[in-house]
Amino acid sequence: MFTHTDLARLQAHSLKMQGWIRQQTFSPELQKTLRRFSSWEVAELILKVNQSTLRGRLAADPSLPQGQVEEDGRQRWYSLDEINALRRRLKVNRRSLLPPRPANKRALRCAIANFKGGAGKSTVALHFAHAAALDGYRVLAVDFDPQATLSHSMGLSDVAEEYTVWGIMARDLIRETERMNAAARGAESGTALPQRKLPAAITDMGLHDLRINDFIKPTCWPTIDLIPSCANAAFVEFASAQYRHLNPEWSFFAAVSRYLDALPADAYDLVIFDCPPAIGYQSMNAVFAADMLYIPSGPGYWEYDSTTSFIGQLSEALEDLTMFEGLVPAGTLRLPKAFCDVRFLLTRYEQGNDLHRAMKSAFDKVFEGRVAQHPIEMTRAVEQSGRFLSSIYEIDYRDMTRETWRRARTTFDRAYEEFRGYAQEAWAQLEDEA
Ligand SMILES: Nc1ncnc2c1ncn2[C@@H]1O[C@H](COP(=O)(O)OP(=O)(O)OP(=O)(O)O)[C@@H](O)[C@H]1O
Ligand SMILES: [Mg+2]
Repeated sequence: MFTHTDLARLQAHSLKMQGWIRQQTFSPELQKTLRRFSSWEVAELILKVNQSTLRGRLAADPSLPQGQVEEDGRQRWYSLDEINALRRRLKVNRRSLLPPRPANKRALRCAIANFKGGAGKSTVALHFAHAAALDGYRVLAVDFDPQATLSHSMGLSDVAEEYTVWGIMARDLIRETERMNAAARGAESGTALPQRKLPAAITDMGLHDLRINDFIKPTCWPTIDLIPSCANAAFVEFASAQYRHLNPEWSFFAAVSRYLDALPADAYDLVIFDCPPAIGYQSMNAVFAADMLYIPSGPGYWEYDSTTSFIGQLSEALEDLTMFEGLVPAGTLRLPKAFCDVRFLLTRYEQGNDLHRAMKSAFDKVFEGRVAQHPIEMTRAVEQSGRFLSSIYEIDYRDMTRETWRRARTTFDRAYEEFRGYAQEAWAQLEDEA
């Protein structure tokens, strides 16, 4: 016989192991840290300038950040803050090294979503966040998945559930209910409209008083912040169903979108959502808040099958939302939901595999040219870097064969470059900030 207590016992064993792995991986203080980047990486891979040009500039101006020399070598190693200072201060051939950002626009929001488990969502979200930060962008990552893969790989493991997307949703329910009650009281009809009352279990949690920034945690990357998730946030799916019952007019799917709208427009450049492998309250919030949808999929037939049913179900779920038309103040929420762009991205792709190539042309045909042309290749480096709870960008190339590291980095770089191109186009479509 095997009951819930046995499961709890197994979990306790496993948690001990997890703690040990984190200790071995990060540092004795369990704090994840970001490595420095070599002058070779800074020149060729990050700032994309000739190595000797960079060396010359650094020699000519000692006030520029000079990095650190490691005892065993001649290369200099730079922190991301130093790299960003170089980016701001240097111009090469009169070209600014800052990444393009359209004027008067808020940050672009991109959801990495598919309900197929293991499609590569978290891997893509993590690598795009890191690639974008190395590209000079300020990134906010939002973990919508109670599996919390993204939060754990960004080094955040002890998270209280009120500081997750669930907290944002419950806070939104309280605020929206208050707004509706105030509007009902203010109605000029003469007969006061009924007031909605939320139970003390919700109103007394102190969520109402949380400020926007309380949900945002710094990471070891100076230009990446995270709204994390945790296992306890799994009950958000049950709780949200109950919340909808308490206030059926609450536009539950727009909670995160409203939350993000309240951030200063220039606080971040990119907001990246990692979604759970399900269509539920959390993923609907992610998708609704997103300007752009990136749908990763493995290159096999079953993954294609499942991606097809994902877009079908998503389409139905988005259509259902149109019943909320007219329920929110004019101009605050637009229905039906329209994305600036939707793209598919093949992951774990093997160029030499006939089936993968055949699936790629099938994807290309069926999804009307919306399939990213640079798939993420299957690479042992990702399995290995996964073991270190890190992205390929975080792994020091001296810790694996240079070729393996380089190949993995190239595949993510290419996929990111392509993403960046679509992102620029999507960004230009956003409305100007007032
Ligand atoms: N390009 C790749 N090469 C090799 N392994 C990969 C690659 N991409 C992802 N993986 C591995 O596949 C597994 C699933 O990836 P990931 O966690 O990113 O998927 P997911 O879609 O987020 O899963 P879930 O639906 O559970 O959230 C992980 O072990 C990851 O290391
Ligand atoms: Mg995941």
